[in-house]
Amino acid sequence: MQVILRQLGDCSIRRAEPSDLIPVMEVNLKTLPEHYSDYFYESLLAEIPEAFIVAEVGNKIAGYIMCKTEYGFSNFKKLGFVKKGHVVSVAVLDEYRRKGIGKALVEESVNGIRIRKCDEFYLEVRCSNNDAVRLYEKLGFVIRQQLHSYYRDGEDAYLMAIEIDHT
Ligand code: ACO
Ligand code: ZN
Repeated sequence: MQVILRQLGDCSIRRAEPSDLIPVMEVNLKTLPEHYSDYFYESLLAEIPEAFIVAEVGNKIAGYIMCKTEYGFSNFKKLGFVKKGHVVSVAVLDEYRRKGIGKALVEESVNGIRIRKCDEFYLEVRCSNNDAVRLYEKLGFVIRQQLHSYYRDGEDAYLMAIEIDHT
């Protein structure tokens, strides 16, 4: 059953289904240098479908966000391990950008990882990726670390994170 989360004009923001994975991979290939195996996409959809979300315009996938959950040290100086959501990848096709789709995908993924009782949500982003950094900052993510030579081409990443409130 399709779970539509919100409508932005002619764009539906909804949970991904197995039949969306090939078009999601196509969006990834066109928009980002980091690619993944078919199995990895399938396993993320199986693990946390609440935070694997697509943007659909007409019958076309225009963007996606996919996430995983992990246990690890807090990015906010809390003691001990916390449950964290991790944005693995988010992208919107060039021709659909600057319409609020990226923001909607990230916001809906925050809701998804809240359902999964994560304490924090984090991601890595290229330090030069101003569009993405600004989008995350607007949504409340803050830069917590700079990861040196994080990417294969040697570029640094910012680790950005947000605390999830459960009230
Ligand atoms: N008219 C004009 N501008 C608008 C409108 C509108 N109706 N709605 C939103 N905007 C503006 C926003 O204000 C924002 O601009 P600003 O930050 O300069 O103020 C800008 O559009 C972007 O916001 P969205 O539209 O919500 O985001 P978009 O759909 O363009 O997607 C994304 C952003 C995903 C970063 C996109 O640029 C992209 O796919 N980039 C390539 C892939 C990429 O870099 N992904 C992130 C990598 S990091 C990771 O995956 C963890
Ligand atoms: Zn990551």
